[in-house]
Amino acid sequence: YVMPTVRPQIIQDYIGQVAVREHLELAIHAAKMRGEHLDHVLLYGPPGLGKTTLSHIIAHEMGVTLRQTSGPVIDKPGDLAAILTRLEPHDVLFVDEIHRLSPIVEEILYPAMEDFQIDIIIGEGPAAQTVKIDIPPFTLVGATTRAGLLTSPLRDRFGIVQRLEFYSDAELEQIVTRSAQILGLHAEPEGALEIARRSRGTPRIANRLLRRVRDYAQVKGDGVITQPIANLALNLLEVDNLGLDKMDRRLLEMMVHKFDGGPVGIDSLATALGEERGTIEDVIEPFLVQQGFLMRTPRGRVVTDNGYRHLGLVRTLSDL
Ligand code: ADE
Repeated sequence: YVMPTVRPQIIQDYIGQVAVREHLELAIHAAKMRGEHLDHVLLYGPPGLGKTTLSHIIAHEMGVTLRQTSGPVIDKPGDLAAILTRLEPHDVLFVDEIHRLSPIVEEILYPAMEDFQIDIIIGEGPAAQTVKIDIPPFTLVGATTRAGLLTSPLRDRFGIVQRLEFYSDAELEQIVTRSAQILGLHAEPEGALEIARRSRGTPRIANRLLRRVRDYAQVKGDGVITQPIANLALNLLEVDNLGLDKMDRRLLEMMVHKFDGGPVGIDSLATALGEERGTIEDVIEPFLVQQGFLMRTPRGRVVTDNGYRHLGLVRTLSDL
């Protein structure tokens, strides 16, 4: 993944997500006053907005160790039981893509989250017995791209549920400026803002584009990240003036040219694009919806007038 060194370690260095931060700071403060573990936390929202970063910060602020795993990696109940029994009191267990846990693994989590107990089955067949084992009180931090993908018994066991939002240009400019400082780069404010404006509201993309603009500035300029340099570098990367990348435009163009702008069902769209349905729903669509280029309706996806305009097209009355 991208530039672990620029990832903030303490909450004071974390930029944006003001509401999420406030909730977490309060809950962490209260848990520490009581000398207790922090309640389980569910973080959801599009990729690259800082769910993993926040889990590091939560562990750091609680003064405990972070254990990291992900839904698809845990394939047997015993794998999860092994992780849970090895935790120290109040540790943070981060489970990325938590919606991809298998049902039998999820079953282990329910008593673990609620009563800090796991049910172990000893023996086989009619002689099999369930034994309850205590585990240390811990904090589960779950991350998912969409909370709607979780089963309700799992979702209901999180005391703190927070949605991460796309970042504003001003917040991303601060993030780019901070990352540039850490990397020892000279970025002019207009250069940092240009990268910020074209990063799809996403810090992970901003940090990736910063590295590409740095390369361009070194080779084609004098190393300084100015607005014109950032502009040329980002044009070369086919990131447009609103931050849409090739895939974003392919999706909009496909909808306009093959499906008359919609409504079109997600599965037809996925087939036409040769992309996974989940990638369209979790990675591509949310930003296009947030920018007002695409709408989700009960009958399918529709390109908005703004979407047409962004492609340099105007929808005429005869199209409707
Ligand atoms: N790097 C990535 N995300 C960040 C954030 N939210 N604040 C500061 N630096 C970041």
